[in-house]
Amino acid sequence: MKVKVEKKNFIGLKTDLLVVNIHDGKIDNHSFAHVVDKKLNGELKKIFKNEKFTGQEGEIKLIHTQGKLPCTYVAILGLGDKKKFNLEVIRKGAGQLFKLAKQINAKSVVTAVHGGHLGLFKKGECAQAVVEGISLAAYDYFRYVKKSKDHFQISELSLLCPDPKKVKEVEVGAKRGEVLAKGVCCARDLVNEAPNHMTPLGLAKASQNLKGVTTKVYKQDWIKKMKMGAYLGVAQGSINPPAFIEMHYKPKANSKKKIVIIGKGITFDSGGLSLKPPKFQETMKDDMAGAAAVVGLMSIIKDLNPKVEIWGMIAAAENMPGGKAQRPGDVVTSMSGKTIEVLNTDAEGRLTLADALTYADKKKPDLIIDMATLTGACMVALGNRIAGAMGNDQDLIDDIIDAGNKSGEPIWQLPLPDEYKAELKSHIADLRNIGGPYGGTITAGLFLQEFVGKNKWVHLDIAGPSWTEKPHSYEKAGGTGVMVRTLAEFLARKS
Ligand code: BES
Ligand code: ZN
Ligand code: ZN
Repeated sequence: MKVKVEKKNFIGLKTDLLVVNIHDGKIDNHSFAHVVDKKLNGELKKIFKNEKFTGQEGEIKLIHTQGKLPCTYVAILGLGDKKKFNLEVIRKGAGQLFKLAKQINAKSVVTAVHGGHLGLFKKGECAQAVVEGISLAAYDYFRYVKKSKDHFQISELSLLCPDPKKVKEVEVGAKRGEVLAKGVCCARDLVNEAPNHMTPLGLAKASQNLKGVTTKVYKQDWIKKMKMGAYLGVAQGSINPPAFIEMHYKPKANSKKKIVIIGKGITFDSGGLSLKPPKFQETMKDDMAGAAAVVGLMSIIKDLNPKVEIWGMIAAAENMPGGKAQRPGDVVTSMSGKTIEVLNTDAEGRLTLADALTYADKKKPDLIIDMATLTGACMVALGNRIAGAMGNDQDLIDDIIDAGNKSGEPIWQLPLPDEYKAELKSHIADLRNIGGPYGGTITAGLFLQEFVGKNKWVHLDIAGPSWTEKPHSYEKAGGTGVMVRTLAEFLARKS
C-alpha cells in the first residue's frame, strides 16, 4: 500500500472511495461531510434521517455518488461521542474502513485524518492511528494457502490535509503508522507460523539480518557453559535444541540509557510431562508471543531510531515430554545459583526467564522489561484483551501502562506482595516453580522477582492479549503482535 498526503481540494479527487466522518449524529459545519452533503444536494442528511444513521462508533455508511462527485463511493465513518473519543476509536474506524474497501474492491482510497480536527490529539498522531488501523486490518497469514482469493490490499491511500502547515506532521505520523504496522505484522507472522517450522532455531533464524541490529545465537554448549540449568531443564525434553538469542541495537548518538527486553520464547508448550489436555495445546504455538514482540520491535528499530541502547533476549526452547524430559520433582540449579524444585513442568516459562533475567544483569542495564505468555491465571483475572503488569518500580510500571493506553493495548497492574512469597517455598530447594491454586499470575511474578537482582524491572503477562480466537476490530484470528506498539511508544518517550 502506497501512503501519501493529499493537499488538494478533496472534492475534485478521482478515487474509488472517499471516506469522511461524523460525530454525535450531526454534520458539523465546515466538516468534509458537510461539503460532501452539499455536493450531493443534501443526500447525506436525508439518508441519515431515513436510515437512522447517527454516526455512532462502529457505524459506517456507504453511498454511491452516481456521478455527482468524481469519486465512485463516499463512506461516512461514525466516530461516536466526542467526549469518549481517543486514538483507538480512530484505529478501529480505520479497520472498518479497510473492510468496506475490501467489499467494494476499492483500490484507491482517500480519507480524512479522522479526529484530526478536534484538537484533542495532534494531526500527526491521528494520521498514525489511521494508517495503523488500516495496515493492521489488511494483515493476512496465507503462507500455507495456495491461492488466496480472499486477500485484498488497498493500492493507494491518500490522507487529506488541506492545511499546508500540517502536511509535514501528517507525513511523519503516517510513516510511523506504517513502520509500527510492519513490526506488529512481523510479530504476528512469527506467532502464526506452524510450530514444526517455528522451532528455537527457526526463531533464531528469523531474528537474524534485522536492519541496524547485531544478533548472536548461542547454542546448547554455551547455555551449559553459562550454567543456565533452569532453562536447560525445560529444553531437554525436546529433540529440537534450545537457542539463546541476543539482539543488540546501539543508537548513533551517545545513548542515555541501556534497556534489556526479554521475551518468553517457548516455541511450543505441550506442558512437558505435566502434559496439557489436547484443547489447551491447540494454541500453544503462541507461547513465543513475548519473543515475537521483541523480534517485531527489533525488526523496525532502525526506523524508530530511539536514543537508547537496547538488548533483546530470548531463551528459546520447546517444552516437550520426550524421553529426556524433566520430571515433576526434579531439582535444577539456575544460573543465579538458586536451586528450584520443578513440581510442574508446565510452569516452564518462568524457568527459562529466570536464567534470562540473571544473564540480563551482566549488561548492567538501567531497566529490564520482560514479556511472557506466562499464566492462564492472568486470563482468568483480566480476560483476553488486557495484559497484566508487575514490577519493582512504580514509575516504570506507570510509564508502560501509559504507553499501552496510548497504543490501544490496555495493561493492568497486579501487586507483588511479600506475603505470598511463602507459596514458593520448597522443602528441599531454594524455591519451587509453582504456588498454590490462587493468584497464579502473582506467584509467577514473585518467582521471576527472585532473579532480577537490584535491577528496575517490569514483567508483562500477555497470555490473554497475544492471541485472538476470532477476528477483532483490526486483528485477524491468531497472533495479535501485542506490545510491539506499546514498547515503541515507551522507547520514544525515553528518547
Ligand atoms: N504457556 C502457559 C500459559 C498460557 C496459558 C498462555 C494459556 C496462554 C494461554 C504456561 O506455560 C503455563 O502452562 N502455565 C501454567 C502454570 C501452572 C502450571 C502453575 C498455567 O497457567 O496453567
Ligand atoms: Zn506451560
Ligand atoms: Zn508456557
